[in-house]
Amino acid sequence: MANWIDVLSRDDVPEDDVIGVDAEGRQLALYDVEGEIYATDNICTHGHARLCDGFLEDHEIECPLHQGRFDVRTGKALCEPLTQDIRVYPVKIEEGRVWVEID
Ligand code: FES
Repeated sequence: MANWIDVLSRDDVPEDDVIGVDAEGRQLALYDVEGEIYATDNICTHGHARLCDGFLEDHEIECPLHQGRFDVRTGKALCEPLTQDIRVYPVKIEEGRVWVEID
């Protein structure tokens, strides 16, 4: 069953940047790319680094620890040393709030 949670205000997601949030015990990274919001897990699939501390360029987030890159739209791992994609979550905006679907 769909479980949408209210994560933060749309205005709190910095323009063309990333922010980390805790939502019901889950660490999420939210991204604004040209006005579109995307959500992934915040912890890198390679090691214990937070993607919200990384560098966002277009649709790619670069991990701060070993510079692995993920596509924030699909979660796809784009380069070494990553071997595992990152989980992405459906997002919707309602009344100025960002909602993320978790299960
Ligand atoms: Fe992210 Fe190594 S911890 S690339």
